[in-house]
Amino acid sequence: MSSRLEAEHLHKVFGRRPGEAVERLRKGADREELRADGTTAAVIDASFTVEPGETFVVMGLSGSGKSTLLRMLNGLLEPTAGHVRFDGQDLTALSDRELREVRARKISMVFQHFALFPHRSVRDNAAYGLEVQGVPRAERERRADEALALCGLAGWEKYWPDELSGGMKQRVGLARALATDADLLLMDESFSALDPLIRRDMQDQLIDLQKELKKTIVFITHDLNEAMRLGDRIAVMRDGRIVQIGTAEDILVRPANDYVASFIQDVDRSRVLTASAVMDTQLRGDEADCGCETARPETPFNELCAISARVSHAVAVLDAKRGLVGVVPRQRLVGFLGDEQGDPVPCDSPQDKGGAKAVARA
Ligand SMILES: Nc1ncnc2c1ncn2[C@@H]1O[C@H](COP(=O)(O)OP(=O)(O)OP(=O)(O)O)[C@@H](O)[C@H]1O
Ligand SMILES: [Mg+2]
Repeated sequence: MSSRLEAEHLHKVFGRRPGEAVERLRKGADREELRADGTTAAVIDASFTVEPGETFVVMGLSGSGKSTLLRMLNGLLEPTAGHVRFDGQDLTALSDRELREVRARKISMVFQHFALFPHRSVRDNAAYGLEVQGVPRAERERRADEALALCGLAGWEKYWPDELSGGMKQRVGLARALATDADLLLMDESFSALDPLIRRDMQDQLIDLQKELKKTIVFITHDLNEAMRLGDRIAVMRDGRIVQIGTAEDILVRPANDYVASFIQDVDRSRVLTASAVMDTQLRGDEADCGCETARPETPFNELCAISARVSHAVAVLDAKRGLVGVVPRQRLVGFLGDEQGDPVPCDSPQDKGGAKAVARA
């Protein structure tokens, strides 16, 4: 059974008199005011819960406080105010020794730049966390080899890190995190140093592994497309604060403010949206075409566009028992294609079967 992670009103202030700075923030001071005094409010009042087995993504621009937040989650940084609870334990209340123990057994980090030891074999790198735990050699090698196999590196155990490509090195980093059986995986820009194609591969691999392993994952990225592919939920950070937490669909369909809205302009909506996000639940069935061409709530946006282009009326969305749950008039699809001009992103995507284009022209 995986664990639950809770952050409660977390603050981290660097610089002089941090406690005082938190008080000022609570009274409404902003980050810039504090900066004028040489104090950096890296994380301001962050609260969220990550459920067991969930992949929670923290997304934000450089300097928004993502890494600082992550380092408080594993106790590497002490919060200036607030609490972190993991597995029911308040990390902020543990002694250094207890914290080290929790970090060694229950929490694993995967870094951006792999952090492999150059003079250790792939196997010994993957076994490192187990070595720290004092697991005997034979067992740690067996578990390291298992984790390497999970990450697609069977047969590479005896190689040296510098004989591996970047993507393979990151797989070793991931294997090292998985070998310890830690419940909580913290991943800080883990795929950002990889070429786009390899990066996608790694994302797919993580999605596949997660289906099986159901770890509790906090994944940090500055890339919203990556966030939307990986995250069950996404927290968007700006200037130290979390400005929205929601599913990919929430963020696309109901951005909390102009800042979030400006982020989502470049996102390929067609990959994220499904019929349930775009349908109108108020319209009646007789306004739709309930014939053979209908959609399901989970029908992807592009497919919905293709269906819409083939039917004469609006598309009916039916549940598994063929009950009507919503209706999608063609005009509604156009509204979701992007900003005012009907951003052509979905039309050019490779999965599109011409549907979105036809809708945009209609
Ligand atoms: N040890 C420190 N001492 C002082 N200021 C710090 C320290 N660590 C981080 N900061 C500041 O806190 C703010 C948030 O930094 P953080 O590294 O958490 O951002 P980030 O979102 O991870 O950025 P990036 O995407 O560049 O990694 C920045 O203004 C940074 O300069
Ligand atoms: Mg960072």
